[in-house]
Amino acid sequence: MAARVRPAEVEDAAAIGRCHVRAWKAGYRGQMPDDYLEGLDEALRGESWRGALEAGREAGGEPGTAELGQNRTRVLVVEDDGGEVRGVASVGAARDAGEDPEATGELWMINLEPSAWGSGLATALLEEATAELRRLGHREAYLWVLDANRRARRFYEREGWATRGEQKRDVFGERELVEVRYWRDLST
Ligand SMILES: CC(C)(COP(=O)(O)OP(=O)(O)OC[C@H]1O[C@@H](n2cnc3c(N)ncnc32)[C@H](O)[C@@H]1OP(=O)(O)O)[C@@H](O)C(=O)NCCC(=O)NCCS
Repeated sequence: MAARVRPAEVEDAAAIGRCHVRAWKAGYRGQMPDDYLEGLDEALRGESWRGALEAGREAGGEPGTAELGQNRTRVLVVEDDGGEVRGVASVGAARDAGEDPEATGELWMINLEPSAWGSGLATALLEEATAELRRLGHREAYLWVLDANRRARRFYEREGWATRGEQKRDVFGERELVEVRYWRDLST
């Protein structure tokens, strides 16, 4: 499937909310609690993305800038060959305490509509997200992924990301889950 990756616009907010929630509901079934996943709402998520993208636009950031709380992120969307938004990724400076936010970037999220999984759109989106991290001046980048998320882990490994044995625990819907960290050298 031919892909076009571009910075997100405020007008993409509803599509982003749809991709985000559908990806979570399909990708995390059996990993996160069912009632937590069922409570996720595409329209509400879209509204929150709209607010973040509007705040980014008002702050005069580059195209695709969004303000999420105190954090600034760059949001990319991928369109299929019919021009429909099928996935979203966001990147920015490292958010974890102890990391140097200048040198180190973070892939905050990547979510594809389940009907587009396996199509190659995710690869195009991740390549562009990695390029954006380089453009932001970072030398390396990391991401956190659920330990149990085999599909995403395989995807990242195939695209050149690697673990260094780090883990953390996070609570989703009252269930504590293990996440693992993957790294990518941006000089290659
Ligand atoms: C993660 C995501 C963006 C990847 O996009 P995708 O189009 O599904 O990725 P691809 O199909 O290109 O690659 C997935 C790989 O995992 C493999 N795979 C599929 N199911 C698997 C499983 N249960 N266990 C292990 N590997 C699996 C596929 O065969 C493929 O590997 P291959 O190319 O070597 O055959 C997408 O699946 C998604 O949005 N998932 C839900 C949200 C999510 O998990 N986001 C990441 C959070 S950190």
